[in-house]
Amino acid sequence: MGKRTLRTQLCDMLGIEYPILSAGMGPSLVGEKTGAPVELVVAVSEAGGLGVLGASAYTVDEMLDAIREIKKQTDKPFGVDLLLPGQIVSAGDASGDGPDEMPLIDLLKTFPKTHYDWVMKTKEEMELPDIDLMIGLKATTLRPHAAVKVCIDEKVPLFCSGLGNPGFMIPDAHAAGIKVLGIAGNTKNVRRIAQSGADLVVAQGHEGGGHTGRVGSLALWPQAIDAASPTPVLAAGGIGDGRGLAAALAIGCTGVWVGTRFLASNEGGALDIQKDAILKATDEDTRRTYLYTGKTSRATYNQFHDLWEAADLEPLPFPIQVMLASVMVEMFTKADKKEFVGPFAGQVVGLIKEIKPAAEILEDMVEEAADILSRKLPERVTVG
Ligand SMILES: Cc1cc2nc3c(=O)[nH]c(=O)nc-3n(C[C@H](O)[C@H](O)[C@H](O)COP(=O)(O)O)c2cc1C
Repeated sequence: MGKRTLRTQLCDMLGIEYPILSAGMGPSLVGEKTGAPVELVVAVSEAGGLGVLGASAYTVDEMLDAIREIKKQTDKPFGVDLLLPGQIVSAGDASGDGPDEMPLIDLLKTFPKTHYDWVMKTKEEMELPDIDLMIGLKATTLRPHAAVKVCIDEKVPLFCSGLGNPGFMIPDAHAAGIKVLGIAGNTKNVRRIAQSGADLVVAQGHEGGGHTGRVGSLALWPQAIDAASPTPVLAAGGIGDGRGLAAALAIGCTGVWVGTRFLASNEGGALDIQKDAILKATDEDTRRTYLYTGKTSRATYNQFHDLWEAADLEPLPFPIQVMLASVMVEMFTKADKKEFVGPFAGQVVGLIKEIKPAAEILEDMVEEAADILSRKLPERVTVG
């Protein structure tokens, strides 16, 4: 069979063939290879979707290098995803002086004594190894204004804000010809992002991987469409194949933003130990927890969750908790304690049986959705 056509207004807006975006995925821990690296972006954009770089843990310079590398490898549109936490955006960027990075274990010493003591006690009791993980003090999440400026100077085709409201940068982005997308997990935030002038809003349901809210996808998507109107909405949270894509289009979404399924691809930047965890997981094997970032996020269940709950500690504010969790995950990984390590991932993990090239994932999704919409649905549903 030849290539299928499956288009929405999103395809015209972004200059792409299929209404599928791979989500901007940062890493599960500081220092790790990012979940949505250059390779994934290029593969998805070349296959006719739009790949989004997960740049939240890059330094500003690393992000610039990655953007230039993407441009070298493809002339197709792509996106860059940053986290824009409100309190950091309003505080402005810290001065550029000082070191670029420092050992994370040293930074941990500045944390509340209760938390530091717990890490050290756990390390000793479990005989975990020393680590030399470095923390980038010039990461884009800590320098949102500098990072946004680079995205604007580089005229990235699509700017995506994974946390917070991109409203402050939209006029400059639009002046540079850049489209802006924001992500939300409830109608209040969907409305806020749409009213701030974003071109697109992603509505991510409770079942999605990474930061996630309390409202399930099927309930959220139609309410988000109403709240954002006339701004188009992309569906996220639980989409792993063409059935999810067809459902989202049937509800009225203009396209889909897919994380976990693309993380579990050849080009997805998760560690092998994390990809294994996704392949083994069933639909019930993820948990929503404050453990990783201080905000609610979803990851595959592992014994680190039990350890954290038993500690009965207050989560530290974002992004400080990210650093605490990163120290622990790095020690578990180095000690090969697989049962304590799992990636951010959504409930769709139960559907994922194979690590495949991203282009194949996208093509299968298009083929299945096109078949449902053009043949299977009319065959199965009689409409008077
Ligand atoms: C490993 C991983 C890392 C993520 N990191 C980010 C991030 O840095 N920025 C962001 O906007 N969303 C992030 N997310 C959320 C995704 O953008 C997306 O909304 C979510 O994966 C959609 O649900 P799904 O996993 O069911 O497809 C992450 C998701 C995963 C699985």
